[in-house]
Amino acid sequence: MNKLFFFLLCFSPLWAVASESLSLDSAPVDVYDQPSLQRGARLYAEYCQGCHSLKYMRYSRLVRDAGMDEAAVLKDFLHGEGAIGDVMTTGLTKENGVSWFGVAPPDLSLTVRARGADWVYTYLRSFYLDPSKPTGVNNLLFKDVAMPNVLGELQGQQERVVEEGWNGHKSYKLSLVQPGRMDAEQFDQAVGDLTNYLAYVAEPAQLERSSLGKWVLFYLVILMVVLYKLKKEYWRDVDADIL
Ligand code: HEC
Repeated sequence: MNKLFFFLLCFSPLWAVASESLSLDSAPVDVYDQPSLQRGARLYAEYCQGCHSLKYMRYSRLVRDAGMDEAAVLKDFLHGEGAIGDVMTTGLTKENGVSWFGVAPPDLSLTVRARGADWVYTYLRSFYLDPSKPTGVNNLLFKDVAMPNVLGELQGQQERVVEEGWNGHKSYKLSLVQPGRMDAEQFDQAVGDLTNYLAYVAEPAQLERSSLGKWVLFYLVILMVVLYKLKKEYWRDVDADIL
């Protein structure tokens, strides 16, 4: 019976779908890594904020949660304009977004929650040259994406290579055809920092929640000690023979 099931599974259409879907690379997310959050925030401001807002993220959080210096945030992120309590908006209006890209670049505050960190990490590294597209690029994970390859100067340019498997299924790989300013390892780290920052932005409360968790555990341990003593007290006068 098991063998039959296995046989059916091998030749089921499900298998065909699975073998064509792209596997996601795992994102190095650690929201307690403040230097990584800082690098990610800087990359975001330089390469993404021109099009994407983070409407729930205040600059002051960079000081509180990412450990940045307030003066540096005011100077490097706000360029002397606006207040530390402002949220991270973009200069791009919806109308311009639609007329330039066909679709307005979405706010990225909750993207990691909606798509997952691994998806974002893989997506940002999966652009490849496609002259048939208005932006000159396409994306393995997000077919016919309207976003240009904004990190191309760092990563370089990739081409899509088609590989045919033993069962006739095609799989796609990307290969670097033009180097960028970073090598593969540096680029993966930069995108990792960026994804880590977006993972933090998607749920800033996770920092507080887990520090609260420690206090809850501490409280439970103390409570256990007290209850144990209480139990001893209650049973003290009971004759051991009865038990
Ligand atoms: C020049 C404008 C522009 C810049 C700069 C830009 N993007 Fe985009 N981005 C877009 C557009 C337009 C889309 C919508 C694509 C679509 O729906 O086809 C998009 C989509 C996305 C998505 C997919 C969102 C979703 O859930 O569908 C992610 C993630 C993303 N961008 C991340 C980034 C990051 C990170 C950066 C900075 C490294 C960045 N973008 C810089 C224009 C931009």
